[in-house]
Amino acid sequence: MSESSYDLIVLGAGPGGYVAAIRAAQLGMRVACVEKGNLGGTCLNVGCIPSKALLESSERYVETRQGLARHGIRVEGKVSLDLAALMKRKDEIVHSLTSGVGFLFEKNKVDHVIGTARLAGAGQVQVNGNGAKRTLHAKRIIIATGSVPIELPNLKFDGQHVISSTEALALDAVPQKLILIGAGYIGIELGSVWARLGAQVLILDVLEHPLPMMDQALVQRLQRSLEKEGLKFRFKTAAESAKIEKNGVKVAWKSVDGSQSGVETADKVVVCVGRKPVSDGLGLAEAGVKVDRRGFIEVDHATYQTSVAGIYAIGDVIGGAMLAHKAEEEAVACVEQMAGRGGHVNYATCPAVIYTHPELAQVGLDEQQAAKLGPIKVGKFNFMANGRAKAMEQTEGMVKIIADGKTDRILGVHILHARASELIHEAVVAMEFQASSEDLARSFHAHPTLNEAIKEAALAVEKRSIHA
Ligand code: NAI
Repeated sequence: MSESSYDLIVLGAGPGGYVAAIRAAQLGMRVACVEKGNLGGTCLNVGCIPSKALLESSERYVETRQGLARHGIRVEGKVSLDLAALMKRKDEIVHSLTSGVGFLFEKNKVDHVIGTARLAGAGQVQVNGNGAKRTLHAKRIIIATGSVPIELPNLKFDGQHVISSTEALALDAVPQKLILIGAGYIGIELGSVWARLGAQVLILDVLEHPLPMMDQALVQRLQRSLEKEGLKFRFKTAAESAKIEKNGVKVAWKSVDGSQSGVETADKVVVCVGRKPVSDGLGLAEAGVKVDRRGFIEVDHATYQTSVAGIYAIGDVIGGAMLAHKAEEEAVACVEQMAGRGGHVNYATCPAVIYTHPELAQVGLDEQQAAKLGPIKVGKFNFMANGRAKAMEQTEGMVKIIADGKTDRILGVHILHARASELIHEAVVAMEFQASSEDLARSFHAHPTLNEAIKEAALAVEKRSIHA
């Protein structure tokens, strides 16, 4: 095999691409991964990881200012914010994790090729990097180029005043007023960060409620908590345009029914109305790789092969939930099938988490979706009655378990709690093993733990919760 010949070339080194490259190398393939930016993609550089670092720091700030007295801890003097230090910690975390991917590439003998990749005929990838072009050859190619923020036509990103989540993760001062367009994952998480750090935050959304894909009863409770944290929402409202002026940005808005309109001024406006696939400029049309009308690459969802034999695609660029863990599972399944193994992704057990305070996490169906399939049983348990939650002073939230009315199989689990992102995995594993609510209800749960609330909700499915 020549130096530029591989078994597999992966385009993009986000959670989809780098996982595919490492797993393929583990399975004995000679692998190159082409990346034009830093290793780690959106998730590690400008997404999941830096946002969680900021959420953690901002939560500590609020707790130190307001939450410690209840524990009998008095903070004397003024608690102040060092935003530069807070951002430095975030940057160090990003740096350590992205360098970690480089280390894993070396360990697994994955060639990290720096540059911009483009399909260039059967089994060929042209890489433009460091002012030179080179052609790599491979039996198979995986496209894992991810997604970028959607821009609104009348609110174009200028990197300063009208910004995307990328810039909103790296502001050098706390804005006095921040408007976020879109009450989705990003609007709510970044709105929380900046509200905690002292900004007045207003979130606009065209819909009637935030987070339509999550359990709406829990979303309402979350919204109340966020409003207490200082976030303001205006629903059924579209942002029409932005005008940059000397002392800020003026955002013109209109209610969806057209009955009201107005202008809000802010220091910065974050447009977070979703993300779109990165499928332009890859030479897809010339190679015969089909994309849908929104630019998502069409694949066979069992093998991840595109319309062209030998070319595969995974992660955000093929649509579905734009989540790092979904891309990772697709990466492993795709590569294992190439190696003759039985890779498979069970999308029905893909968890979704909003990392607010409290966090909102879910797996599987909500009540409306489940009820369409037949009779259901629902068990609920409030953390107010959980001993560990009381000891932690984190009693807001509940667990809701939806089970099949006839077979008792768990169809969905929804958790609102400060630690919901960790708790949900008991439900993910249970559902992966097709557990019934009875299985959870009869399983040991150490006392005192937050997980006991899951056991109690499972008991509540048959109305035999002990502590409710
Ligand atoms: P999103 O799809 O979650 O929410 C976008 C919101 O914008 C929707 O509620 C929509 O109604 C609203 N919207 C659209 N056009 C609008 C307009 N003109 N005016 C007002 N509102 C408008 O998208 P978001 O928050 O940008 O996140 C992008 C992706 O990133 C998500 O799909 C998610 O998968 C991923 N993500 C995941 C996180 C997590 O797992 N915790 C955190 C952050 C992002």
